[in-house]
Amino acid sequence: MKSTYLLSACLALLLMHHGRAVPVSSNTLDLLPTIRQDPANTKPRPLMQATRAKDDTSDDDVLWQNILAAEWIIWSFYDAGVHAFNSSSFTELGLPNTTYQRVTDIRDNEAGHLRIFQGEISSGSVQPGPCEYNFPFDSDPTTFLALSTLIESLLDVWTASPFSGPSDTVFPYPNEILDVTNRFVVPGSCPPANPVFPNPSQYLPKAGVAAGTESVAVGATVQLNFTEPDNQPRFAAAAQYYAVFYHAIEIVSLPLRTDNSPAEPINVTIPLQFSPEGVVIMVIADAEGAPHLDSVVADPVIFLQQPAALGTQVN
Ligand SMILES: *[C@@H]1O[C@H](CO)[C@@H](O)[C@H](O)[C@H]1NC(C)=O
Ligand SMILES: *[C@@H]1O[C@H](CO)[C@@H](O)[C@H](O)[C@H]1NC(C)=O
Ligand SMILES: *[C@@H]1O[C@H](CO)[C@@H](O)[C@H](O)[C@H]1NC(C)=O
Ligand SMILES: *[C@@H]1O[C@H](CO)[C@@H](O)[C@H](O)[C@H]1NC(C)=O
Repeated sequence: MKSTYLLSACLALLLMHHGRAVPVSSNTLDLLPTIRQDPANTKPRPLMQATRAKDDTSDDDVLWQNILAAEWIIWSFYDAGVHAFNSSSFTELGLPNTTYQRVTDIRDNEAGHLRIFQGEISSGSVQPGPCEYNFPFDSDPTTFLALSTLIESLLDVWTASPFSGPSDTVFPYPNEILDVTNRFVVPGSCPPANPVFPNPSQYLPKAGVAAGTESVAVGATVQLNFTEPDNQPRFAAAAQYYAVFYHAIEIVSLPLRTDNSPAEPINVTIPLQFSPEGVVIMVIADAEGAPHLDSVVADPVIFLQQPAALGTQVN
């Protein structure tokens, strides 16, 4: 994974660009994704540096394929928003009349990213194509904006890099973050030639919160739901499992009771000591602090803290 640093740098730059596509007033910034920027890295840089011949298949292709597959999700999300809404959808919420245009601009900007990422994959490797996606915003512009925050936060976590600001959440297992975006992919809808996404995949059970959850704010106790009937976690009777929470640079592990699962659902309490900003990420692991990839036994659960009221809608 020698190019991870370069890729992180590129993505960080691309993401910064999201946040700056169109000037917006400060109240919009509460809802539309804002990507933190390290003041030391404000200078324009070349986005990509040609470091190899494009017909030379390399390990980098796997990374670019992951990025491209993720980018299809992002582009499709904004494109769905462009089609679902118009400018009144947002002005009726009291948002500036530039908001819809901004969503359109982000969508168009993402289309540029698609082309860049396609160009990075060598000719001998498959360029992942788009799947069908299901974004649960249900024609509601507020939920759409919350989902955009969630998606951008995931990418922000995924690219957590030397350019991340101090309160970006650091999570050590990038492909598990990408796997969270699979919830938007209609099962079986991807072109058959697409590589597995993410690649490699641990095929961990997907986790979310139970229906009827009222809050995913810090301090809340939340019942988990493993959403794939055919892919449920298996908890060894004698083992101790932990809910491992990540927020900014903090990691908090809390022992879990799993002995009666699945008969008795698993509840977790989101650590109250975290500040109610950004996202809290949780995994279940068979070791305190989830010290290595194989210690994680279920996909991450993302608890969106801002806007707090929407956390349960986009979980
Ligand atoms: C936006 O869409 C709504 C509902 O479809 C429609 O009533 C309204 O006239 C549209 N507004 C604009 C500015 O196109
Ligand atoms: C958008 O809002 C600004 C100020 O809030 C106003 O000056 C402008 O005329 C509005 N534009 C449209 C197309 O409504
Ligand atoms: C768990 O998720 C599945 C799949 O989305 C859903 O059918 C089920 O109702 C959920 N259960 C609870 C308790 O939320
Ligand atoms: C788990 O949390 C749910 C929702 O907060 C609650 O109704 C249930 O009683 C809790 N179960 C246990 C065993 O604490």
